Amino acid sequence: MNIIPKPTQLVATGDTFTLKANTVIVANKAARAKASQLAAALRTATGLTLPLQDEADAPAIQLTHNPALATELGHEGYRLNVSANGVEIEAAGEAGLFYGGQTLLQLLPTQGEGHLPGVQITDVPRFGWRGLHVDVGRHFMPMAALKRMIDALALHKLNIFHWHLTEDQGWRLEIKKYPKLTEMGAWRKRTRVGHEYASDKSFDNVPHGGFYTQDEARELVAYAAARHITVVPEIEMPGHAQAAVAAYPELGNADARPGTDPLDVCDHWGIQKHVFNAEDSTIAFLQDVLTEVMAIFPSPFIHVGGDECPKDEWKASPRAQARIRELGLADEHELQSWFIRQMDNFITQHGRRLVGWDEILEGGLAPNATVMSWRGESGGITAAKAGHDVVMAPTTYVYFDYYQSADKANEPLAIKGLLELETVYGYEPIPAELTATEAQHVLGAQAQLWTEYIKTPAHLEYMAFPRLCALAEVLWSPAASKNYADFLIRLPAQLARLAAMGVNYRKKG
Ligand code: ACM
Repeated sequence: MNIIPKPTQLVATGDTFTLKANTVIVANKAARAKASQLAAALRTATGLTLPLQDEADAPAIQLTHNPALATELGHEGYRLNVSANGVEIEAAGEAGLFYGGQTLLQLLPTQGEGHLPGVQITDVPRFGWRGLHVDVGRHFMPMAALKRMIDALALHKLNIFHWHLTEDQGWRLEIKKYPKLTEMGAWRKRTRVGHEYASDKSFDNVPHGGFYTQDEARELVAYAAARHITVVPEIEMPGHAQAAVAAYPELGNADARPGTDPLDVCDHWGIQKHVFNAEDSTIAFLQDVLTEVMAIFPSPFIHVGGDECPKDEWKASPRAQARIRELGLADEHELQSWFIRQMDNFITQHGRRLVGWDEILEGGLAPNATVMSWRGESGGITAAKAGHDVVMAPTTYVYFDYYQSADKANEPLAIKGLLELETVYGYEPIPAELTATEAQHVLGAQAQLWTEYIKTPAHLEYMAFPRLCALAEVLWSPAASKNYADFLIRLPAQLARLAAMGVNYRKKG
């Protein structure tokens, strides 16, 4: 049975259930919404329009919402039984019913009649944070592409879409109080051609940009929520801020670089020096931005970036130096830590949780912060040992902007590195250094798609798949059941499902 991610427990019974034009779907009241969603998916997959009824006198597909199962299955787990007498999906939550339906869809033959193999499945995810990060700052991606990606995440029972909305090269979310963020900050005049570190430093001279209105962002949040995916928004600070500083020069450090304002929205790659200043007015500006962000995104987590903030401007700026003295801080690292603490207080007061890249450990970690460990596992280990929650995102296992094959000449240009499918499959998100208690702070992990060299949705999908199929199994299935050879046997059916959705997965090797 070609199910990805592999269920926790699966017993094949040898029975068969045949989906017919007169098969009905039966659901109790709390399961009705998920039952009609499943009916729609079955219609797409099989062409059959199955009616939704309160009861049935012939073999049916039955969805039952049963809160008593919460202890055993949590809100995402489910039980699925397929026999000649019918199909039963039972769960304590809507997410569980949805995942039971996703598994049922994967039991359908990719072609031909609707014979379903008899099974008894009990399935519960290993981790609660199963994610994909997409950078729309370097290259804007249209709404339709993001929705197709959300559909593909749902197919894999992934539940976090980390939306990287602001970058040096573009600010992509409408903020009503500060319209220039998108009027100016969403557009750049030109873009580097080829690799940033190649000797040829030319540009394409083609303007690039785009942004999401707040209505569009809400639409994506709702689209994702219907598929049990939380959209975690990221607003980068204090670094990766050049587009915002280009739009509002008062947010920057002009005194560190006299005569350079206004800056342009950045047109090339790498780490940029033009960061936010640490004035109270800038903190207030960013808190206003976060207020609008929290009104759009119900996510419990709000990401504030925190990575790659060069201290050059703060070192050269008399104002930043005065600020360090005023606040009684030792140096620029403590200023960055102070900056993130202001956001941590603000986000916590609003009932949400701050998450940031592992540089937020430098200069002291804000009290309520969750750490996203990208420079290897060490940030995650440090944070978990200090009692903070962590999300693992290490370059070595989950940076999907890296090459997929050692045959780089026959791959599209990528940022660097090599991350093969088998390496992703072999990833163990719990670092060996953690005790069992500390390991409970590891919420899960996510893949990163940074888009400096990824200009189109088709290329984005090429980088995501099939590596994301492997990561889904890392994050959902019991560690002891992982088996790469077995995964490879199940993979072609999953790729056929992706193809049917119009997803451009990598077809080689
Ligand atoms: C990162 O890759 N700068 C988080």
